[in-house]
Amino acid sequence: MKRIVLALICAACMTSMEAKTIVAYFSATGTTKAAAERLAKQHNARLWEIEPAEPYTAADLDWRNDKSRSSLEMNDPEERPTIKRCTDVTPYDTVYVGFPIWWGICPRIINSWLDNNLPQLEGKVMIPFATSGSSGIGEAEAYLKKSYPTLKWQKGLLLNKR
Ligand SMILES: Cc1cc2nc3c(=O)[nH]c(=O)nc-3n(C[C@H](O)[C@H](O)[C@H](O)COP(=O)(O)O)c2cc1C
Repeated sequence: MKRIVLALICAACMTSMEAKTIVAYFSATGTTKAAAERLAKQHNARLWEIEPAEPYTAADLDWRNDKSRSSLEMNDPEERPTIKRCTDVTPYDTVYVGFPIWWGICPRIINSWLDNNLPQLEGKVMIPFATSGSSGIGEAEAYLKKSYPTLKWQKGLLLNKR
């Protein structure tokens, strides 16, 4: 009986230890979502989709059109698209933040998410990850460090390869 109780306590402890990582991501067309799912599985982490209140249409994502929603948002550094649901980041000590590279950096909705959660994210291990057509993650990493200098940013991961 004692052994069973001990085993149950150990299992509960391990579950709570493993539940300390969250993989939060925004994905407009599914590529970053697939990368986030793989990452969450690898780290036994909570998976959280950062969803815009207003989903992006194909026209919104047209980077060739300088009047499309994504172009307008990326041309305005102060733009903060509204997010559908709040995230409770307090239980986690490691936070993966994933996004598609847009014009070399993260989409503005990532700023919305970081701004919304800023006080709670202080002190946590922050790991950016991204997918892209061909760009690296370096510019996005530098942008995040400069925009949120108090957060504990770690080296970013470019997860284009499966
Ligand atoms: C508005 C927009 C801008 C983009 N800018 C870049 C870029 O600067 N460099 C790059 O390599 N890919 C760029 N891409 C391609 C995306 O980063 C790439 O397709 C990504 O994997 C899409 O991820 P998702 O399916 O999760 O949205 C851009 C895509 C869009 C829609």
